[in-house]
Amino acid sequence: MSPKNVYLECFGCQMNAFDTEVLESILESEGFGILQDPSEADAILVNTCSVRENAERRAIGRLNDLSRYKGTVLAVCGCMAQRLGDRLFELVPALDIVAGPDNYAALPSAISAAISGEGRKVLVEKDGSVTYRLRSVSGSSPSRYLSVTRGCENYCSYCIVPYVRGSFRSKEAGGVIEDIGLLKASGAKEVTLLGQNVMAYRSGDCGFVDLLGRILEETDIERIRFLTTHPRDVDDGIFTLMAETDRVCPHMHLPFQAGSDRILSMMNRGYTRSGYLDIIDRARALRPDIALTTDVIVGFPGETEDDFEETLDIVERVRFDSAFTFKYSQREGTKAAGLEDDVPVEVKKSRLDNLNAAIRRIRMEIMAARIGSVEEILLDARVKKGEYQFLKGRTLHFRNVLVESENRKPGDTVSVVLKELSKFTFIGEEITGR
Ligand code: 5AD
Ligand code: SF4
Repeated sequence: MSPKNVYLECFGCQMNAFDTEVLESILESEGFGILQDPSEADAILVNTCSVRENAERRAIGRLNDLSRYKGTVLAVCGCMAQRLGDRLFELVPALDIVAGPDNYAALPSAISAAISGEGRKVLVEKDGSVTYRLRSVSGSSPSRYLSVTRGCENYCSYCIVPYVRGSFRSKEAGGVIEDIGLLKASGAKEVTLLGQNVMAYRSGDCGFVDLLGRILEETDIERIRFLTTHPRDVDDGIFTLMAETDRVCPHMHLPFQAGSDRILSMMNRGYTRSGYLDIIDRARALRPDIALTTDVIVGFPGETEDDFEETLDIVERVRFDSAFTFKYSQREGTKAAGLEDDVPVEVKKSRLDNLNAAIRRIRMEIMAARIGSVEEILLDARVKKGEYQFLKGRTLHFRNVLVESENRKPGDTVSVVLKELSKFTFIGEEITGR
């Protein structure tokens, strides 16, 4: 029998991007080929997100769009698959397989069965022990993701994740070290440790900061990053590590979501605005140049103009490098779905515009202040801009830089002087003679 080929597409967060790599490696190890073009594929697999209604609407649109490849097996996985289960067959009539995040090991056989004409299948049983160790590695980028925790039990009142991603679990520390070894062997210079709530990591006696200590000691990976952190779980030991070594990059993504204590409490976030600001103070006391990024929601039920002003106030005080900002989207089954979604859509939109304007202004100020400085850049890709070829990379603080260089390649770390800005990307020049 000739080998079967699968085409994959991914929506959603970094965790989904990592899961898509896991899916590729599971499929390849079971003899499937991975294609970049859906028209030749025996099966199409779309990894989806449920976090906002819009994310689901787009994924359903795309699935129906991909249904035009008649005779091809169509499968959906990820958070929307878990949330909607067999309800998806009504929304996407051409669909054959629905598989939730704990069921990826079963996908190759489900896809084979569907290719040979067996009927529809729904795989959405939850299994709180699944952590997905890497089997093999197909990517070659210098900058890679690795999930170290999965699931979430925080139950923020607006959030669907605990319902679709299941119970919180951590990958065993020795397994993390081995996975980093595999990534390193395929060219990784930088690993971003992933989890919906990564600082809550715990495997036996080993907490998140201990895990980083082990990675620093037992691997020679150049740079370590991590995503996403909940303020409730922040361990100041992380800032001590950042102060000791640049291998733990001085950047933290710390969602604050809302600036008023009243809304934070309704969101069940488990901290106050002053508690959040204290964390930032402690971080900056130990690593003054730390770059901070965040997530913010506007228009949560009952949010007043005064509440929103407090959100803007946090932005002005902390001065984030950048932020992901969202209009509140009611999700069926969450605690907040019991509250009236009473902030009119045009008010949500204007608050979002105001918030984004403040974030952009501060971001520009932070970046402009770096012009003329010399920074270590890890190059991660080649890009073409007009007729020019550049190498793209990141500073330790996760800021984008383009460098013109003929004799460098992705994976190299170079010293660069930041010359100018093109929107929110630095144009840098390598310092030669090193
Ligand atoms: N509506 C709007 N934004 C949401 N997020 C999570 N749930 C919702 C929702 N129901 C945002 C949060 C989270 C990010 C991944 O998505 O800011 O940190
Ligand atoms: Fe990621 Fe959450 Fe979206 Fe799932 S619902 S893909 S965990 S952002």
